[in-house]
Amino acid sequence: MTEAVAAGQEAARLREQLDTWNYQYHVLDAPSVPDAEYDRCLKRLQALEAQYPALCVPESPTQRVGATPISQFAPVQHEMPMLSLDNAFDSEELQDFNRRVLDRLGQEPSALLEFACEPKLDGIAVSLLYRDGRLERGATRGDGSTGEDITHNVRTVASVPLRLRGSGFPGVLEVRGEIYLPRAGFEQLNATACERGEKTFVNPRNAAAGSLRQLDARITATRPLQMCCYSVGLYEGGELPGRHSDVLDRLHAWGLRINPESRVVQGIDACESYYAGLAARRASLPYDIDGIVYKVNDLGLQQRLGFVSRAPRWAIARKFPAQEEMTTLLAVEFQVGRTGAITPVARLEPVFVGGVTVSNATLHNADEVERLDLRIGDTVMVRRAGDVIPQVVAVVLDRRPAGAAPVHFPQRCPVCGSVLERAADEAVLRCMGGLVCQAQQKAAIRHFVARRALDVDGLGDKLVDQLVDQGLVRTVAGLYTVPRSAWLALDRMGDKSVDKLLAALEQSKQTSLPRFIYALGIREVGESTAGNLARHFGSWEALAAASEDALLAVPDVGPIVADHLRQFLDSADSLAVVQALREAGVCWPNIEVLPAEALPLSGQTWVVTGKLETVGRSEAKAHLEALGARVAGSVSAKTTTVVAGPGAGSKLGKATELDIPVLDEAALLELLRSHGVLL
Ligand code: IVH
Repeated sequence: MTEAVAAGQEAARLREQLDTWNYQYHVLDAPSVPDAEYDRCLKRLQALEAQYPALCVPESPTQRVGATPISQFAPVQHEMPMLSLDNAFDSEELQDFNRRVLDRLGQEPSALLEFACEPKLDGIAVSLLYRDGRLERGATRGDGSTGEDITHNVRTVASVPLRLRGSGFPGVLEVRGEIYLPRAGFEQLNATACERGEKTFVNPRNAAAGSLRQLDARITATRPLQMCCYSVGLYEGGELPGRHSDVLDRLHAWGLRINPESRVVQGIDACESYYAGLAARRASLPYDIDGIVYKVNDLGLQQRLGFVSRAPRWAIARKFPAQEEMTTLLAVEFQVGRTGAITPVARLEPVFVGGVTVSNATLHNADEVERLDLRIGDTVMVRRAGDVIPQVVAVVLDRRPAGAAPVHFPQRCPVCGSVLERAADEAVLRCMGGLVCQAQQKAAIRHFVARRALDVDGLGDKLVDQLVDQGLVRTVAGLYTVPRSAWLALDRMGDKSVDKLLAALEQSKQTSLPRFIYALGIREVGESTAGNLARHFGSWEALAAASEDALLAVPDVGPIVADHLRQFLDSADSLAVVQALREAGVCWPNIEVLPAEALPLSGQTWVVTGKLETVGRSEAKAHLEALGARVAGSVSAKTTTVVAGPGAGSKLGKATELDIPVLDEAALLELLRSHGVLL
């Protein structure tokens, strides 16, 4: 065999292997090899193709990275128009749709039709044309009959196969679906844009559209876009199954990504249940959806029902409440946080968005206000997705009233008048008033008495405001010295409530070292870091005396946290507050410090995968490390235990395969509690 023939065979093997791994990773969501192995094979294939250019076929996995830029988008005529969908905004409209369909089909109003239910992805509709299994063309929907040729960009999307898998596909197969940007990819993209001082995208949909509208596919290739298929357009030279859901299964078998949330149900009431189920999980899906699409599943019935103008009679989009709405910016106010951070807050004309009425939205910091180029009186786009705090995402410039006033950032703290400073590497302005600033005093007290800190029951925000406004308390230590008569003089405080509050304050004095450290409200020191510090040093004295290097040895403590800790521990004011608290009787038992090798999980390697509801993955990792475990990213024979939450994928599979013990979240919490890591 000549060398060239051998190279050809090796290249074919590598292509096959890389395609399979790509399919497992991007279509099945089940990665089977480490990235490094994929990269090694890709490199080897690139080397072979460089040596024998004839081996470099267009559907080679090396050809995804983006070719030379094109000069313009060529128009594409859709032989079969790409339609849109009618909308139903409530159950009644959905029931109407069902009645219309049954009526047209001559069926009883109570008949149960079979429907395919699918999430309505909020991305860009595209058409992929495969000829003899090879991707020939990718196009946008455009106006439905003429779109744009975006083949060069579509080729860079990892879940778009350049070649179909398996066999039995029609010679000509036009697949339709949505290209979208998962939320994580969107956030990453905007974070990078922010760092570079570039314009950020308003939402994942705009980012996906912008990414596909690139003439230079090398840019598109850097965007983590995904493709999900939802129908077949044109096909020739082959047969397809008679039910929509079976067609989708076929597409999946040919290597195309379909939505794993899709279901087949009987009757419109089951469609309603599907809607309710997905609406409840909407915020936790990894991508944006704006509703549910219901399709009559039988393709024969679809044919009989046909179309009206631009939309099929056999499908409907049941929309979710909008996550974006327009409203007017009435004013911008400035709030002062616990650490002095000044946050601009937009006061808005109340608007119903994402299922609630929103009248305030955070504007984050001065950079954000500048980026948005906000003026008072502007019409703004407000977004509230899931439980996320409402955001102002853009200004509708062509609605700007004449003479709209720009937003002026204060020069001094709006509460105490102290100077504001902006650290070199930070976007936020901070009030330098520290303990002098009443806003910071209030926020520090609210934090100190919170349930997860010293847990003083009954000391709500209104009381805290009065205490500070009347000058009764300046620091958290002052809470313990307010005389009974002063408590009684506060609004709505009678004998009984004062007794209760004094008892709660008394009780709060018996605390633990982790709670105490957390309650101090040191910047960047959350509950889990406070716990790690407490277990590492064992006593307040040891922590207070720790050098920066000693602090850095604590799990979860990096240079920034260490710096904030040192600043706190070096400040005479802070230490005076700690001293006053101890004099007031606040106390805690010291913790026995174990050498690293004596920690309960030392020498063990753990892996955390899937979604953890209570602690979250990174917090779980920090807790496990505090107990001496090493937390690794992948499962191997050396793994001691795997913690798996819902949605765990290949790592869980591997653990089962290797017979490695698996804990669910409840068991993990139990373990952490038994070691005193969680309360
Ligand atoms: S079916 C004739 N299925 O919604 C049926 N569309 O408002 C046409 N979309 O342009 C499309 N998810 O971009 C269908 N599961 C889904 C979809 C979906 C999102 C988009 C698509 C279409 C638009 C229509």
